[in-house]
Amino acid sequence: MAQLWGGRFTKETDKLVYNFNASISFDRKFYEQDIRGSIAHVRMLEKQGILTEEEKEKIVSGLCGILEDVQNGELEISDTYEDIHSFVEAVLIERIGDAGKKLHTGRSRNDQVALDMKLYVRDEVLQVDGILKELLKVLLHIMKENTKTAMPGFTHLQKAQPITLAHHMGAYFEMFKRDRSRMHDIYERMNYCPLGSGALAGTTYPLDREYTASLLGFKGSTLNSMDSVADRDYLIEFLSALATVMMHLSRFSEEIIIWNSNEYQFVEIDDAYSTGSSIMPQKKNPDIAELVRGKTGRVYGALMSLLTTMKGIPLAYNKDMQEDKELVFDAIDTVKGCLTLFAGMLNTMKFRTEVMEESAKKGFTNATDAADYLVNHGVPFRDAHGIVGQMVLYCLDKNIALEDMSLSELQDISPVFEKDIYDAISMETCINKRITIGAPGKEAMEQVIGICEAYLTEEKE
Ligand code: ARG
Repeated sequence: MAQLWGGRFTKETDKLVYNFNASISFDRKFYEQDIRGSIAHVRMLEKQGILTEEEKEKIVSGLCGILEDVQNGELEISDTYEDIHSFVEAVLIERIGDAGKKLHTGRSRNDQVALDMKLYVRDEVLQVDGILKELLKVLLHIMKENTKTAMPGFTHLQKAQPITLAHHMGAYFEMFKRDRSRMHDIYERMNYCPLGSGALAGTTYPLDREYTASLLGFKGSTLNSMDSVADRDYLIEFLSALATVMMHLSRFSEEIIIWNSNEYQFVEIDDAYSTGSSIMPQKKNPDIAELVRGKTGRVYGALMSLLTTMKGIPLAYNKDMQEDKELVFDAIDTVKGCLTLFAGMLNTMKFRTEVMEESAKKGFTNATDAADYLVNHGVPFRDAHGIVGQMVLYCLDKNIALEDMSLSELQDISPVFEKDIYDAISMETCINKRITIGAPGKEAMEQVIGICEAYLTEEKE
C-alpha cells in the first residue's frame, strides 16, 4: 500500500478501505496524460523561477523515461499504489531522488485529475468524431449509388409514400452529421485548462496558468479554481452526445434487423457480420445490429449515473467524482466499438433493390399522388382524399393496385380522371416530382448529395 499522505496518520489504512478508495485499476488508463500534464507543470514552474533549470531537466527526463518504459512494457503500473498520480510520483522519486519530490509543488491531485481526465477525453472526442466521419463516408457512397432505387417510406411502420434508398440513408447522414457537430461543440467548450487551481483555492506560488494551458494545447485557463476542480459538465455533455449517437445507431440497427428479416428481405447482412444458431442450421442472425441496439442501454446508463452522482455534491472536490472514470471509459469504448462495427456491417451489406422497389409498388404508396392529381384538376383536397379512399377500398377488394384500375373504373369513382393519371401515379413520377430541397426526387437528392460531399471533403481536418 503506497500513499502520498501518510504524515498525519498514526494507523495503517484498513485493507478493505484501501481497496475501496483506490482508483489505480482504472485511472492507469490515462498514465500518458498524467505524465504529459506533469511535464507541462514542471516547465512552467521553472519558467516562473520556482524550480531551477537543473531540477526541471532532471524531472522532465525522469518523466519521459517513465512514459517510455510504461509504453514499451518495461515498467508495469503496479496496483500497490493508490492511483496513477501516486504511482508516477513514487517511481520518479525512486529514479531521480530529491528533485522528484518537487514535482507536486503548487499542485493538488484535484486539479491534476481534472486535467488528466480532460486531456484523455479531449483526445477521445476527436477520435469519436473521426469514426463518425468514416461512417458518413460509407453512407454517402450508398447514397450516390441509389438515387434511383425506389423503396417504401414508412410511418407507423406502415407503407406511406415511395422514397429512395439514397433518401433513407441521407436521413442517417444528417443524424451522424449532427453528432459530429455536437463533438465539435463539446471540444470547444471543454478546451480550458484546470491545472493551477490547486485543491480548490488556487495556490500561493506565482504560477503562470496561461503558459501551462498553452503548452497543453488549451485555448486558455479555467477562470474559477473551485469550478475547475468540481466541474464534470463536459463529461455529462459528452455522455449525452454519446447516448445520442447510440440512439441513432440503435434506430438504424432496428431498421436493419427488420429489413434483414425473412418477411422483408430488403437487405442481406454479409456472412462476416452475421452469426448462426447452435440448433437451427438454417439461421443467419443479425447479432451485430442487435448488440448495438442492446449496448445503447449501457451508454444511457452511464449518462444517468453521472448526472445522479453529481447532483448532490457540494463544492468543491469530493471523492464521489472518482466515479466518473469507469462510466466514461466504458461509454467511450462501447461507442467506438459499435460505430466501427456498424460501419463495417453497412459497407458489406447487400441491398436487394429489386425487392425494395417491388415493395414500394405495393401498399398504395401512390395514394397521396392520386389525390394531388385531383387537386391539380380543381377538386378540393378533402374531397380528393375521400375519392382516393374509395379507390383504395375498391382495390383492396379486388386485390389490385391503384394503377391496375382501368380508366372507366376510375371514372366511375371520379369523372375528373383522364389517361394521364397513370403517368401521374407511376413510381417514377411519385418520387421525382418531389423536388423541394430535402425531398427524395432525383434532382433535389443530387443537390443534397453535393452538399454532403462538400461537407466531407472541404472540411478542415
Ligand atoms: N482518484 C481521484 C479521483 O479520481 C483523484 C483525486 C484525489 N483527490 C483527493 N482529494 N482525494 O477523483
